[in-house]
Parts: sequence; structure tokens; C-alpha cells
Amino acid sequence: MPEPSQLGDLAMLIAKNGKQFIIRLDPDLQLQTHRGVLQHEHLIGLPWGTTVASHIDHEFLMLQPTLRDILLHTKRQSQIIYPKEIGYILLRLSIGPGVQVVEAGTGSGALTTALAWAVGPQGMVYSYDRRGDMLQLAGRNLERVGLRERVELKQLDIEAGFTEQGIGSLFLDLPHAHRYLRQTREAMADGGILGVILPTANQVSRFLSELEGKLFALPEVCEIMLRFYKPNPQRLRPTDRMVAHTGYLVFARAVRG
Ligand SMILES: C[S@@+](CC[C@H](N)C(=O)[O-])C[C@H]1O[C@@H](n2cnc3c(N)ncnc32)[C@H](O)[C@@H]1O
Repeated sequence: MPEPSQLGDLAMLIAKNGKQFIIRLDPDLQLQTHRGVLQHEHLIGLPWGTTVASHIDHEFLMLQPTLRDILLHTKRQSQIIYPKEIGYILLRLSIGPGVQVVEAGTGSGALTTALAWAVGPQGMVYSYDRRGDMLQLAGRNLERVGLRERVELKQLDIEAGFTEQGIGSLFLDLPHAHRYLRQTREAMADGGILGVILPTANQVSRFLSELEGKLFALPEVCEIMLRFYKPNPQRLRPTDRMVAHTGYLVFARAVRG
């Protein structure tokens, strides 16, 4: 039997018009919306999936947010990596409980959040950004969802290299990623996995050219397309619009000479 909601849990409240709110349950707080106020103390202890009413009787469905929900609520000042790419990145970099992973740049911290979620309390994410304002935003985003302790945020330019050694999984999401391949390879364990996201095909070509001769092998290039359907059993068909392009993903393995 799933546990009912508890103090400190993240909860997602969904209004009838689809608007979503993610909160951390705290008996001293209230959620204020255009459709009325919900006291957290009235939500604690309810089974997930319950419909609750605001003080002016507007209904909200209460669910535990998934990682995807949390990522879509990331407060952003930069382009973020979207859940459709993040799912494959976690798989491809073999991110799981206890893993130590390095990423640059941190940006708003969407990928950081997913990495921190996946490595669990025994793992660690080392996240680099040269901009202090981005690290502060990412820190707040991580704090809000209770994952801050799993991340070491580092205000450094990776031009100067990484301070970690022997890293098994490393991801780059920053301009001119091809310029940092030497520093990246030096931080990685032999056999480690490198991933990068690039916005244009010509940047992928440039990145692949630079990979050559830098102790990386087995390059893979892909893009992730995700098509949603209107969930109408009588008229099942794709939604009218889709996000056609976000970025290209490139992965490669670090090898010995
Ligand atoms: C597109 S954002 C990363 C978004 C992030 N992956 C996310 O999902 O929210 C790129 C970040 O790289 C940082 N950056 C650019 N060049 C850098 C460098 N040489 N070293 C460290 N950070 C860098 C920028 O400051 C920016 O915050």
C-alpha cells in the first residue's frame, strides 16, 4: 500500500484548468492560487490521488510529482535540457544510485536535478558553471526539491580543467564544447562515458572532428523525437503540434592510447 502524503513530501496540485503547483508539505504554510487557498496542514496525511478543495471550493487533484513534473517546473534563466533528452542521457551515462557524475555548465540546473535524483543519497553530482548567478538559481531549484545536498556546485571555467579525476560519467552542455575535450578527457576514467548536447548539425560535425585523436572511441550521434497523442479512444491521433528540435546528443567512450 502506498504511504499517504507526509510532512516534507513534494506534492503536486492540479487545478481543473490543468494549472499545476508543486509544493513541499509544511503545516505552517499555505498555497495561494487564483482559485483559492489550500492549507498544507489539510493536505498532510491524505492518500495520493485525492481531490481536495480550496477555501472557495475549487477542486485540485493531489499527486506526487514525477521527476518529469519537477523538471518542467524548473525556474529558468537559460535554455534547459528537456525531459525527453534527459531520460536517454541518464540511461546512456549509466546514472544510478551511488554514481559520481560531473557536468558543465550548470545553467538553471534542470539536468543537475535529474542527475541528483538518479544518483540517490549515496551518489554525488559535481556541477560547473563560470557564472555565479546561474549557480545561485540552480542551487535554489535544487533546494526547493530537496536535492541540494547531492550536488557540489562549482564556480569555475572548465577552460582551467576539472578538479575531479577518474570520473566515469561526464556531460557537457555549454557553447563551444569541442574546445574543452582535452580537459574533459583528463578528468575522465579510462572507459568513462562522455555525453554532450549541441544545438546545430554543424556543431556536431565540429565536435566529431575534434574527438578524433583525443582518446575517445565509439561516437554515437542521435536526436530524440517524442510525439504525443490526443488520448481520445474514439479519435486516437497525434497532437497538432510537436517540439521538432531541441538538440543533438553525442556520446563517446574514453579510451587508452
Ligand atoms: C545552456 S546552460 C546549461 C543548462 C543546463 N544543462 C540545464 O539543463 O539547465 C549553459 C551554461 O554553461 C555555462 N558556461 C559556458 N561556458 C562555460 C565554461 N567555459 N565553463 C563553465 N561554464 C560555462 C554558462 O554560464 C551557462 O550557464
